[in-house]
Amino acid sequence: MPWIVGVSGASGTPYAAAVLRALIAAGESVDLVVSRASRLTLLDETGISFRDAHWQQDLRAWLDRGADGKPGTFDTDVSGVRHWSAGDLAAGPSSGSYPTKGMLIVPASTACVAGVALGLSKDLLQRTASVTLKERRRLVVAVRESPLDGRTLRHLVALDDAGAAVVPASPAFYAGATHIQDLVDFVAGRVLDAAGVEHGLYRRWRGELGAARPPGT
Ligand SMILES: Cc1cc2nc3c(=O)[nH]c(=O)nc-3n(C[C@H](O)[C@H](O)[C@H](O)COP(=O)(O)O)c2cc1C
Repeated sequence: MPWIVGVSGASGTPYAAAVLRALIAAGESVDLVVSRASRLTLLDETGISFRDAHWQQDLRAWLDRGADGKPGTFDTDVSGVRHWSAGDLAAGPSSGSYPTKGMLIVPASTACVAGVALGLSKDLLQRTASVTLKERRRLVVAVRESPLDGRTLRHLVALDDAGAAVVPASPAFYAGATHIQDLVDFVAGRVLDAAGVEHGLYRRWRGELGAARPPGT
């Protein structure tokens, strides 16, 4: 059964790339839904145009890129990924009878958070999130906005009440990050932790202050 990965139009496409690479590395099958707005953030953050007709080629270019923008940093086999167009409300994941392990929305825009909290189902991404909740499957929402206003905070509480895991896209510094990719991988790792998927994306806390600091610092 696949994990659904929904990419909405918040800043943070490197977080999505890190989650996708880790799921593939863990041998998980992945169904991908990329919202219309997230194509703008992807273009802004990577220079890549994500096209439904050429999604495999565009996904490969995206996942091969490091968080610093350097192409060729990773080599990821995307042949096991299935892509569904965000406008296709007849796609498999729009029905609860389509078997999935759950859904990870990374990054999640406040518009997406609102839409899922209110059950708007304005596109396939939001519909799949609603289905995931109604089927009592795991939903992880990696919200990215700052500051957060009361409306979004209330929507996040509603999602938590409905059983979703809200994982803010906010990196921590206790894992010994030295590069931007480390910070990205920390957030991606916490998203996967919330889904129960094994990974080695960040150094876990071992109860020893300063142990992750580079030698000599
Ligand atoms: C370059 C860019 C960056 C954006 N960053 C954020 C963000 O970090 N958080 C957010 O909630 N919305 C952000 N937005 C706005 C969302 O894209 C917008 O609300 C959109 O309607 C979200 O649609 P979606 O949830 O269907 O993807 C950004 C938009 C652009 C163009």
